[in-house]
Amino acid sequence: MSGREGHVALVTGAGTGIGAATARLLAERGMHVALAGRRRELLDETARAVEAAGTRALVLAGDLGDSAVPKRLVEETVQALGRLDVLVNNAATIAVGPLDAFTLEQIDRHLAVNTRAPLLLTQEAVPPLAASPDGAIVNVSSSVGSIVKPGNGLYGMTKAAVEYLTRASAYELADRRIRVNAIAPGPVETPIHEVWADDLAAAYADLSRRIPLGRMAVSEEIAVWVWTLVDPDTAWTTGNVIHVDGGQVLGLPPDAGG
Ligand SMILES: NC(=O)c1ccc[n+]([C@@H]2O[C@H](COP(=O)([O-])OP(=O)(O)OC[C@H]3O[C@@H](n4cnc5c(N)ncnc54)[C@H](OP(=O)(O)O)[C@@H]3O)[C@@H](O)[C@H]2O)c1
Repeated sequence: MSGREGHVALVTGAGTGIGAATARLLAERGMHVALAGRRRELLDETARAVEAAGTRALVLAGDLGDSAVPKRLVEETVQALGRLDVLVNNAATIAVGPLDAFTLEQIDRHLAVNTRAPLLLTQEAVPPLAASPDGAIVNVSSSVGSIVKPGNGLYGMTKAAVEYLTRASAYELADRRIRVNAIAPGPVETPIHEVWADDLAAAYADLSRRIPLGRMAVSEEIAVWVWTLVDPDTAWTTGNVIHVDGGQVLGLPPDAGG
């Protein structure tokens, strides 16, 4: 018994990578899961894995760049699954390049998807989470929210904002007994790297060389921390950003050569 049996989670970006692994793990822990993202066929795939674990899945297609979508996601989750106990703000977009080259469209899209959507989802989720015996939010940041990496200025700015949102909402929602924490992963093998890497194998080798523990993670190694932060056994922590990054924020390994 996990203590979350029958509880409901809403996971954004649940069709791929960390979000899909998180949805699968929450289902294995007995939770019903609403799965949000743009590509329905990928969400359907995660839904089949959730159902195979023995709980209910709800597929909710929508673009988080649209400010009307967060309200709809929360409403449809509560309508179809009856409650909301856990919100996982995981979806994000990334473009890599010099800060002075980003277009207005790229800037607006990053702010909308990576920063505004988690805030709007948090706002919409407050009433059902406050009604839960154990309401919890996990925001997925990035090590890039703390360390400056060339080309990651826009993405990193939105992740730093997510970490501030985590602390601010943890503080403001504590009186409603909603806890809010964040995970800041280092490099994880997911489709997000296809956006910027022409040669994925070379990019992964380069990233691994720059991580003190010498390798990238797989999504399941991040999902387990999402679970840890919503596990009823860890309920007396809020406002934290947990770095799950093989030591990346500590600095380069001595032999990385800069
Ligand atoms: N992988 C890493 O190295 C790494 C490191 C640090 C932090 N992170 C963070 O981990 C989280 C998950 O990323 P990932 O690595 O698992 O990459 P991913 O597989 O590319 O997942 C990103 C997800 O976000 C969804 N998404 C993107 N734009 C969206 C939009 N406008 N509306 C709705 N959904 C949208 C995507 O689905 P659709 O395209 O179907 O909408 C996708 O499922 C992100 O917050 C990312 O910043 C990843």
